[in-house]
Amino acid sequence: MPSLAPILAIESSCDETAVAILRAPGSILSSLIASQAELHARFGGVVPEVASRNHLMAIDPLVRRALEEAGIAASDLGAVVATSGPGLAPALLVGASYAKGFSLALGIPYLAINHLEGHLLSPFLGAVEIPEHLALLVSGGHTQLTHVRGAGDYSVLGRTLDDAAGEAFDKTAKLLGLPYPGGIEIDRLAEGGNPERHQFPKGLMEKGNLDFSFSGLKTSVRYFLEKNPDLCSTSEGMADLCASIRKAIVGVLLEKTERAMEISGLHELAVSGGVAANRALRHGLQDLCNTKGWKLHLPAPELATDNAAMIAFAALHHLRSGEQSSLGLEIAPQWQVGN
Ligand code: KG4
Ligand code: ZN
Repeated sequence: MPSLAPILAIESSCDETAVAILRAPGSILSSLIASQAELHARFGGVVPEVASRNHLMAIDPLVRRALEEAGIAASDLGAVVATSGPGLAPALLVGASYAKGFSLALGIPYLAINHLEGHLLSPFLGAVEIPEHLALLVSGGHTQLTHVRGAGDYSVLGRTLDDAAGEAFDKTAKLLGLPYPGGIEIDRLAEGGNPERHQFPKGLMEKGNLDFSFSGLKTSVRYFLEKNPDLCSTSEGMADLCASIRKAIVGVLLEKTERAMEISGLHELAVSGGVAANRALRHGLQDLCNTKGWKLHLPAPELATDNAAMIAFAALHHLRSGEQSSLGLEIAPQWQVGN
């Protein structure tokens, strides 16, 4: 394998401006994240225009800091890569345009990277070969089960037909009056609650179905709260609600993942995306894999949520085969992985 000069990666698909410098195969020389979560919390969700303006202010100082932390000069870089989709168009444009300018100024290749491929490969950061496995990708924007045959070879077995798992957490958290992003809050409060107290519906559970639907859960929580408005006013009531909601979402993820493993006959499982930080999901998957004798790959917590190190890592196999993108390439807000 030819050794590559360090790669500069930029991630700006949502509300995090992230920059990383990676030396192949997995030495993270720097990985910095400027989060805008607090800024968007007051709107109850991400506002694309606000995200875009803040990426623009954050990105250049962050790149300079990353170079300093890595102890290298810009001229030592071998390539610059940026998330080109999927994501919010105004946000993606900032990272991709900055990376193109950087590529032009330094005369190094530019490569557009898929955010989902970044998440998919994140549990393997540093590995030279990606083993054949089933990937459960659960983030704020995506929920999908993918058969990964190796880097770049993906078949989607199931995906959400409406809300993503993280979105289901965030939207139900909003109904409970919890701050954005609510997944983390529900997970925290659920730890002290009784998950059996309330039963919320699980979508698309019929035999063999590997797709997901979380919109029914959200509606059911809304009606339930309209009928039981006092439950949120005590800490016990809140904890039981959070535990019951977490059980419903995580329960579906566990059941569908087990189904997909059985159907595909695979023996290795990886989980990625922000919801991979969920305690009940991590424990549930670990128990499942222990019982079945499957190998579980979990990303380091800082690589589960959005970051640029995963974008740099996903870029490696493309760069090794000499791929590069044209500076005239459009961003791709709807870009999916796999077939
Ligand atoms: O992967 P990510 O950082 O961004 C996207 O690409 O969407 O995922 C963010 C999502 C949010 O919906 C957030 O609520 C959720 O991940 N999340 C969690 C937890 N930590 C983050 N959901 C449940 N439990 C958690 N501990
Ligand atoms: Zn993400």
